[in-house]
Amino acid sequence: MKTETEGVPRTRKTLPETGADWPTLKEKLLSFKAKDVQWKRRRLGVFIYYAGDDVFEVGKEAYDLYHVENALGSETAFPSLKRMEEEVVDMGLQLLNGPEDACGNMTSGGSESILLAVKACRDRAKAQSRETLGGELIVPRSAHPAFDKAALYLGLTVKRISLQPDHRADVQAMADAITHKTLMLVGSAPCYPYGLVDPIEELSDLAIQRNLWLHVDACVGGYLLPFLTRNGVDTPHFDFTLPGVSSISADLHKFGYTPKAASTLFHRTKEQRAYQMFEFTNWPSGAMSTPTAAGTRSGGPIAGAWAVMHYLGSSGYQEKARQIVEVQRRVHQGLKDIADVTPLHDRTYSITPMISSTLDIHAVWRQMINLGWFSSSMTEPKAMHMMFHPAHLDVVDEYLEDLKKAANLAREKGIQGGVEARYN
Ligand SMILES: Cc1ncc(COP(=O)(O)O)c(C=O)c1O
Repeated sequence: MKTETEGVPRTRKTLPETGADWPTLKEKLLSFKAKDVQWKRRRLGVFIYYAGDDVFEVGKEAYDLYHVENALGSETAFPSLKRMEEEVVDMGLQLLNGPEDACGNMTSGGSESILLAVKACRDRAKAQSRETLGGELIVPRSAHPAFDKAALYLGLTVKRISLQPDHRADVQAMADAITHKTLMLVGSAPCYPYGLVDPIEELSDLAIQRNLWLHVDACVGGYLLPFLTRNGVDTPHFDFTLPGVSSISADLHKFGYTPKAASTLFHRTKEQRAYQMFEFTNWPSGAMSTPTAAGTRSGGPIAGAWAVMHYLGSSGYQEKARQIVEVQRRVHQGLKDIADVTPLHDRTYSITPMISSTLDIHAVWRQMINLGWFSSSMTEPKAMHMMFHPAHLDVVDEYLEDLKKAANLAREKGIQGGVEARYN
């Protein structure tokens, strides 16, 4: 099989006849990175959440200590993993005000947490003799595609509902979309495109009135918003303090700053979580029970999360959140001197979409990529998109200088950036 990469035909690789020594292989592996984005230079606004080299080192060493252990055996062979996962979940539940009966577990990432929340919701509805074939999830247009992926896997449908003009979920329109087939309502805290928190309080009321499962996608904000609040930032309520919130996804490998692949999925009750489980006995090897989509799970992300959470502690996370506030403040301030580029919203949570009324902002975005700053772009409205991390504090002035350069280049050369946007 041949594929074309940058016009060069690719031949299928064969397993080498004999092995090579590790130093040679290591050198090769490092050389493969030559064309990758230089994230260590803190020039990435997507994919990597950078809270400092010390945090990465702690996560990496803890990951290495446990990367061979398998959480498939955490009830039997590896009580260490069970203990660490339980403690990670406890700490998450404390942050998100989980009630006495709340529970959860770690997953490989936001998409898996969302998949499992939707599965639990669907199977619980089935157990309550509700019709689930073609069951509906009602989500704001800004919700992550992971809900569509989950629906596709689970035989459900998604209704994406237009937003309010302020780009938050339109709760009345979501209410109007509810039918007898609706199983789940969704709100984000914050959503990926705009960095805004949906009106979760109103969604919670609606979920209670209509007896529906409300999932809050706090993959981005779960480990960030509580610490922004502690820094005096006005953050909307989004967690289990709202009685209609049934489940919450919160990614550790985002603003928990832990090694990938690590997320948490929390349920308000143990009864709910029971529907997330996969239990099986009908084969020669006896009982198998897993809470996640994966069977084998490396212990690395569990140990990495446990270690980073203990390394940073509440005060460490609060300080990292303060740094993000400071970066965003300086970016907003700096943008006042760059007439062509403005933030789409006055206040967002780390994520900062930027627009232009004078230039093709996608042209500016492409110039920024040429200058070494990698981020996503978006279309509603046309904007460039940056996720700011604590480590951006070291480079915020360079960022603003390059943004000025990129805007000048786009203006002087009349460059067009095209209409398409990319998330990944
Ligand atoms: C709001 C939101 N939800 C869910 C996800 C999916 O997370 P993952 O990429 O870890 O599967 C993302 C990823 O960026 C996200 O921003």
